[in-house]
Amino acid sequence: MRILVTGGSGTIGSNLKEIISDKHIWFFPTSKEMNLLDERSIELYFIKNKPNFIIHLAANVGGLYKNLHSKVEMFRENIIMNENILNISYKYNIKNGIFCCSTCIFPFNPPSYPMTEDMILKGEPHPSNASYGWAKRLLYFQIQNYNSQYGTKYICLSPCNLYGKYDNFNLENSHVVAALIHKFYLASLKNEHLEIKTSLESKRQFISAKDLSKIIIRTIEKFNTIHYDNIIITDKDFLITELVHIISNIFNYKNFSIIEEEIGQVKKTCSDIRMREVFPDIQLSSLENELNEIIPWFIKNYNTIVRT
Ligand SMILES: NC(=O)c1ccc[n+]([C@@H]2O[C@H](COP(=O)([O-])OP(=O)(O)OC[C@H]3O[C@@H](n4cnc5c(N)ncnc54)[C@H](OP(=O)(O)O)[C@@H]3O)[C@@H](O)[C@H]2O)c1
Repeated sequence: MRILVTGGSGTIGSNLKEIISDKHIWFFPTSKEMNLLDERSIELYFIKNKPNFIIHLAANVGGLYKNLHSKVEMFRENIIMNENILNISYKYNIKNGIFCCSTCIFPFNPPSYPMTEDMILKGEPHPSNASYGWAKRLLYFQIQNYNSQYGTKYICLSPCNLYGKYDNFNLENSHVVAALIHKFYLASLKNEHLEIKTSLESKRQFISAKDLSKIIIRTIEKFNTIHYDNIIITDKDFLITELVHIISNIFNYKNFSIIEEEIGQVKKTCSDIRMREVFPDIQLSSLENELNEIIPWFIKNYNTIVRT
């Protein structure tokens, strides 16, 4: 197959690049080579490279700070990018594809936990990431439309919080794992006291971008046997305070305190039942083992990897 990966330079895309085989021909354009906000740019790329399978990872993504301060841009850009790629994919006869959603599409106050794929419309996404959440919900809505009206087979994968090598480690707009790694690194370097603000009850599920990449490959391999249009990709819950202690242990840096503060959604626990049914042989890495690889990689590459 000729597989086009949007967002190939991002966290998941970069991890995916490390495990692809030459069984397929792969394309990983950057936003400069194929700008998803510009339909003509996508069309020209399709005409030149003739993909017949799409993996849509590109998005305007970020942590809590970015979600709160760039609501307009996050909604607008994600809607436009998703609409453009769907429209051109269908126009150029791509019938099969994988689209990256997120567990942020789920309600902040669901009827019960863990949340399952059928609960998306059982409430609003959390106000702290509503723009991103709604844009991603609408991607899933439109995918259902394409599948039912045009007979395409577009499958959404909805991962929980991601982390990994090639993550966005920018302190202003990164996600929690990357932000904590960066903060511990700077504090330990300067031997400064670090204050971490979090709710003591806050919990999150984490999946490494490496594991998600393996699941993307498995999805391609098993594509014809998968009959779901959305699969939550997740693992067990961790308290944010547990995450802080794991990272502190790896840095061997104890000069920090946790300040209790209500920030964001307390928990968004999602079910892995469907994921385990579709991928019964999948083995996810432990958070601690992964961080033991990622943190030395982060330190070694510090000068080149922190995005502005
Ligand atoms: N990170 C998480 O915790 C998380 C959790 C759940 C779901 N997801 C989903 O997973 C997917 C990948 O996330 P990620 O963390 O890998 O993202 P990321 O590291 O922030 O990378 C974003 C990617 O989107 C591309 N992009 C942005 N604007 C573009 C445009 N106008 N045209 C073309 N490409 C554009 C970027 O390309 P350039 O660098 O070339 O500009 C980059 O490759 C997203 O759909 C996201 O919603 C992420």
